[in-house]
Amino acid sequence: MREHDVIIVGGGLAGCRAALEIKRTDPNLNVALVAKTHPIRSHSVAAQGGMAATLKNVDAEDSWEAHAFDTVKGSDYLADQDAVEILTREAPDVVIDLEHMGVLFSRLPDGRIAQRAFGGHSHRRTCYAADKTGHAILHELVNNLRNYGVLVYEEWYVMQLILEDGQAKGVVMFNILNNQLLVVRAKAIMFATGGYGRVYNTTSNDFASTGDGLAMSALAGVPLEDMEFVQFHPTGLYPVGVLISEAVRGEGAYLINSEGDRFMANYAPSKMELAPRDITSRAITREIRAGRGIHPDGSAGGPFVYLDLRHMGKEKIMSRVPFCWEEAHRLLGIDAVHEPMPVRPTVHYSMGGIPVNTDGQVRSGADGLIGNLFAAGESACVSVHGANRLGSNSLLECVVYGKRTGAAIAQYVQNQKLPDIEEESYLRNAQTQIQSLFNQSGNLRIGQLRQAFQDCMTQHCGVFRTAESMENGLKELQDLKQQYQQIYLDDKGSCWNTELVEALELRNLMVVGEIILLSALNRKESRGAHCREDYPQRDDTNFLKHTLAYYSSAGIDLQYKPVTITLFEPQERKY
Ligand code: FUM
Repeated sequence: MREHDVIIVGGGLAGCRAALEIKRTDPNLNVALVAKTHPIRSHSVAAQGGMAATLKNVDAEDSWEAHAFDTVKGSDYLADQDAVEILTREAPDVVIDLEHMGVLFSRLPDGRIAQRAFGGHSHRRTCYAADKTGHAILHELVNNLRNYGVLVYEEWYVMQLILEDGQAKGVVMFNILNNQLLVVRAKAIMFATGGYGRVYNTTSNDFASTGDGLAMSALAGVPLEDMEFVQFHPTGLYPVGVLISEAVRGEGAYLINSEGDRFMANYAPSKMELAPRDITSRAITREIRAGRGIHPDGSAGGPFVYLDLRHMGKEKIMSRVPFCWEEAHRLLGIDAVHEPMPVRPTVHYSMGGIPVNTDGQVRSGADGLIGNLFAAGESACVSVHGANRLGSNSLLECVVYGKRTGAAIAQYVQNQKLPDIEEESYLRNAQTQIQSLFNQSGNLRIGQLRQAFQDCMTQHCGVFRTAESMENGLKELQDLKQQYQQIYLDDKGSCWNTELVEALELRNLMVVGEIILLSALNRKESRGAHCREDYPQRDDTNFLKHTLAYYSSAGIDLQYKPVTITLFEPQERKY
């Protein structure tokens, strides 16, 4: 059986940063990183606007306390404040460390790292590399991985987390190139598999964001935390949904409705276009619902609003947000120097995930831990974002908590032995699972069922929610799950069988979708990104707590755990 001291699943920022920290701490450890794409094609590469840290290069009066307060207020007081304190205190050091690794941040005229405004932040603290920040950081981390001797299994798909008696032991994975199946055991397993944007029909996420780590954890008995909190980014390019960075508004762009008004004045007068994302996404959706959206022919009543950059001028647009200009130009033929861009909310980020403590150790519930299992980044929930994440805090989370988790793993494995695994039975099960997919003789294409599922989630658990809609969504989802037996695969081969990968991903998407719907149905309040039209108020008396959802074939069991409040007492959230 193949074995490593540590297996990290996921080649994005959190996974790469953790791998690096393990090797920096103990170069003798045998660390493997498994990624279903080439690591530099992980979704982190698409992060645009930047990474928050109180370097004080632009706003001298900024402080980690102010960053922590903004983050907790942005989270609608659901974030765990011990975790937020770590995030914001450690932020400046991790940025400087990245710079020393070679990351090319944009600069001020005096050579220091430039910083820009971002939604919900009280100071200009977002460090950036134009609007390609994820690209700049991920490339440098991957280069470093090679230098440190991390073994990368690229384009391998992990099918199963092996978890027995409360201990993670390894994974079952196959090589997408040739369907070779492997059981790999390790002293520690870390998930850094990113988000699940593809649960919805319009998302800024890439095609690989299918929630695999979340679903595998849930199927193995690990609870998922706060899955009802799905972030809609306000400015997805209409109709495709790709990201137009918040940096565009940070650099001064306006949101305009069909009447030519900067409507954010009615929703967040002190922050305008730089209100947090939950508030801005709701504002855009309300404008569209009220008939003040815009049609492609420019008339009123349509499905988008305008993001107007024209007053910023060509020089600023091309130097600060050139990629966003290019996206609109390439995809829609729009020259944003002279024309506004059509935008509307697009699914962007998962606040919830695999519950972890501040060392990245996976929780089994409100108190216990799962042995040998770690997680970080978007797939994890250490709960620094609570009910709503502030822009530019996610790259930060990946790096701060990727590093911390790597350091914790390097210590942890020193006292661990490799676990025993019945390799044959896991291999047989995986082979049977694949073969039964090949044997299915229904008449449904994967794309048809996936589309129906994504439409169901979008219709029933979007920016606004009600019990009636979510109950209907859950019923529809039960039907769609039955239809999974009806999909057929055209490709039964063993060379680069992406249809097989898509079938496995669809199973995962459906697990994640069901957990989102049920967690949302049971949170009878509105908080952050979770907006119930039938329960419009935040309810701290009954719901200042984290959801823990346990999945099983018999159904989903919901439990709750308290929020850690150390710095700031909950107050009304106004901007
Ligand atoms: O809008 C953006 O550039 C996205 C940043 C983020 O999600 O943190």
